[in-house]
Amino acid sequence: MKYFYAIFSVIFSLLLCGCGESETKKLVMVTNATFPPYEYVQNGKIDGIDPCIIRTIAGKLGYLLEIRDMSFDSVIAAVQSGKADIAASGITVTDERKKQVNFTIPYVISQQVIIVPKDSKIRSSEDLKDKKIGVQHGTTGDLYVAENIKEPERYSHGPLAVASLLAGKVDAVIVDSEPAEVYIAQHSSLHILKKPLTYEEYAFAINKKNTELLNKFNAELQKMKDSGELKQIIENYRKAHSDEAGEKTAKADTFYGRLKESFHLNFIADNRYQYLLDGFSNTIIITFCSLLLGIAIGFSVAVIRSTRDMTGKFKVANFFCKIYLTVIRGTPVVVQLLIIYFVIFGSVDIDKLLVAIIAFGINSGAYVAEIVRSGIMSIDKGQMEAGRSLGLSYGQTMNYVIIPQAFKNVLPALGNEFIVLLKETSVAGYIALQDLTKGGDIIRSQTYDAFLPLIAVALIYLVVVVILTKLLGILEKRLKQNE
Ligand code: ARG
Repeated sequence: MKYFYAIFSVIFSLLLCGCGESETKKLVMVTNATFPPYEYVQNGKIDGIDPCIIRTIAGKLGYLLEIRDMSFDSVIAAVQSGKADIAASGITVTDERKKQVNFTIPYVISQQVIIVPKDSKIRSSEDLKDKKIGVQHGTTGDLYVAENIKEPERYSHGPLAVASLLAGKVDAVIVDSEPAEVYIAQHSSLHILKKPLTYEEYAFAINKKNTELLNKFNAELQKMKDSGELKQIIENYRKAHSDEAGEKTAKADTFYGRLKESFHLNFIADNRYQYLLDGFSNTIIITFCSLLLGIAIGFSVAVIRSTRDMTGKFKVANFFCKIYLTVIRGTPVVVQLLIIYFVIFGSVDIDKLLVAIIAFGINSGAYVAEIVRSGIMSIDKGQMEAGRSLGLSYGQTMNYVIIPQAFKNVLPALGNEFIVLLKETSVAGYIALQDLTKGGDIIRSQTYDAFLPLIAVALIYLVVVVILTKLLGILEKRLKQNE
């Protein structure tokens, strides 16, 4: 037990050191990098028109820029809650959003367009009524469809909607015009309908309280507009994307050939395997640390609860433990993760990895607690009596007699909890943490291929679980031999 606390506090303090404030003025920008040419991930870095404009202005204002990638439906909330200073994500100015954040002067005009397969019967928005329409969740495309046509199929990002269109899961996709051009450039079977659905303006979003930053930004943005610098940046990225278009289309026509090409595109090109490696290491760190935290919490709670059952002590502590168990086991882990990130640590600049460890650790603790408690309760009452009659105190008997036996009994169940935990961390992507699942997701957003990245991610989880199961088996055997 002591070991757990010791190891855990070391890891905890290391992580805490990592998120201390630095002295330089930092500007945190949030975006959803699945929106070329405005923002996308290339060679592991976030690039595009928005990051470029913000970097330029941040440089002029003397800020050190930090870019964070998250889901699009969280970027405005991140600015509003103070988690970020500015959101730059091809954000359309709307009245609804103006209530939540301030917008800079607009920097580009855009529109929502309809993407359909070339052989589709859909010719205009009138033909969409009884069709399945894909959109990116939380975008103006989503709002438009929901308000004017029907409930859309919502995807976490545009490329995923396009992948669904290619797979025949939806009949049309509605997104912003320029990303639409980039998305379809790689797929000769798709085209964009001529008539756009809406006209919109993009601007950057800043917290309502921070008018100082807003004014500074507007001044710089205006200067860039006047000098032509803004236009130049936008043109450069547009051109880079139209040059690159078509490069990624698969050409082979045998199954094996296509698989090989697809493998190359998904993992080798642009070193995409790196997303899986980085994600994998995060997944392992989160799982391992939250397991330790969960075991520490779980054992403490279990001891309190069973002591209460056996001796009647710890009335208040037991009451809080019960509330903890009820709340944690009664709500989904994703919701807990989001609450911890956006509400509890809402305005604190804290490492996301640490947030995930805390969230999954607290969650897992509740399950470990009940597992361990059942273990303690399964130990024959005579053991406690024997310990006490040998002159050991209650605590000593617990520590040296009951818990070691209980631990052995619950090991299979704990191992199972470990495996569940490993897989549960796959929702870490909700707070834009790049775990293994999210790594695969990033690849999918770049290659529009659902098959290989998903299979690869599944295989990696599977291999880890198989190895874990083996190790647990060995540990169990060892413990039995010690008996
Ligand atoms: N312009 C649209 C909106 O504001 C879509 C923006 C999506 N941006 C992104 N980076 N995915 O809702």
